[in-house]
Amino acid sequence: MIKAIREHISVKLLVSYLVVLLVSGIVLALAVTFTAPEAYSRHMQMSSNFIGDGTHTPGAMMGQGRGSGYGPGPGPGAGFADFRAGVFESLGYAVIFVVLVAVVVSVVFSRQIVAPLRALMSASQRIADGRYTERVQVSGTDELSQLAERFNRMAERLEETETRRLQMIGDVSHELRTPLTAISGYMEAMTDGVLPASPETYEQVRLEASRLSRLVDDLQELSRVEAGAYHLDLQPVSLADLVRTTAKRLSKQYLDKQVRLDVSGLDAALPAVLADQDRLIQVLTNLLGNALIYTPAGGDVKVSAVLGTLEIQVSVQDSGLGISSENMERIFDRFYRVDQSRSRAGGGGSGIGLTIAKALVDAHGGRIWVTSPGEGQGSTFFFTLPTAR
Ligand SMILES: Nc1ncnc2c1ncn2[C@@H]1O[C@H](COP(=O)(O)OP(=O)(O)OP(=O)(O)O)[C@@H](O)[C@H]1O
Ligand SMILES: [Mg+2]
Repeated sequence: MIKAIREHISVKLLVSYLVVLLVSGIVLALAVTFTAPEAYSRHMQMSSNFIGDGTHTPGAMMGQGRGSGYGPGPGPGAGFADFRAGVFESLGYAVIFVVLVAVVVSVVFSRQIVAPLRALMSASQRIADGRYTERVQVSGTDELSQLAERFNRMAERLEETETRRLQMIGDVSHELRTPLTAISGYMEAMTDGVLPASPETYEQVRLEASRLSRLVDDLQELSRVEAGAYHLDLQPVSLADLVRTTAKRLSKQYLDKQVRLDVSGLDAALPAVLADQDRLIQVLTNLLGNALIYTPAGGDVKVSAVLGTLEIQVSVQDSGLGISSENMERIFDRFYRVDQSRSRAGGGGSGIGLTIAKALVDAHGGRIWVTSPGEGQGSTFFFTLPTAR
């Protein structure tokens, strides 16, 4: 019962009404019991005094007469009139008392409702003004407290989004600055005659410009994928076929770097997965591309898949640089590279590839993660996809 009162505003209101009704009943009963007889006899007294001055005759018993109260002249209704006046008087006091009780009870209960609402109103105004650290105090477990709790959670999300937005602006400007600085450096050196205006120098400038344009493309893709602003055309597709298609596309780069790519571990009898073919190729290209970049010449990359209850688990295992445990959690963050200079020198990109891959796998209802025995010992990327059945 106490729990229900604490948890529901409707029960609180009902209890407040019941309290007022109960007090009214008690007060009325007390008034009729204790004050009515006294008021009645007082009125009787007044009435007989009135008769004593010769104007009226003694009243008859109540209910027998005309019931006209202190009417002019004597009458049988005088007794009833005394009774009625007595009861009305005591009822008058009772009503005043009950109204006071009702006011006190409603003030107490409405305070419990209005105070948290006011707090929510002013907090939401402050958040609208951009102060995302704002929170409201939560006390109790009723609907208003739950609302306050959800409000706080919403404020937390807004704060996180704002922090991410600021971080993103910082990261993007940092990423753009590097190739831009390089381009303007080459130009300045050529203007000053420090570097010859040779095809090699122009080629360096072109490389930096194309890195810049790739970064802009990646950023555009990232924002599209993270905002969910693309259509996911889910169809039953053969995972083995898609892996082989991707492997074929990358085979020349693998051959050039002398890294072996083994896709024979894929069982052709695996059931189809429910996926968007192009998006799945995008994920595979990213993982196989990374495996190639971060595996030295002579290494191996192996793709396999196992069937679970409702999903297929794909793994891309390489014998490359490996990943330390503290970096494993962060490599899916945007712009995160284990070693900035190594990634750039080794042909790595801007640290967006895995962020996009994760967003795409999540959109398919799957998971993506990585394991590695440690640096220099290779790593295995896993992701799951729901089967089409
Ligand atoms: N197979 C791997 N072995 C070791 N480290 C890896 C591997 N795959 C990714 N990493 C690490 O994770 C980081 C993030 O990878 P991600 O694919 O997101 O970015 P990237 O390859 O640097 O650039 P891009 O945006 O062009 O893909 C890489 O910079 C690298 O340090
Ligand atoms: Mg990559």
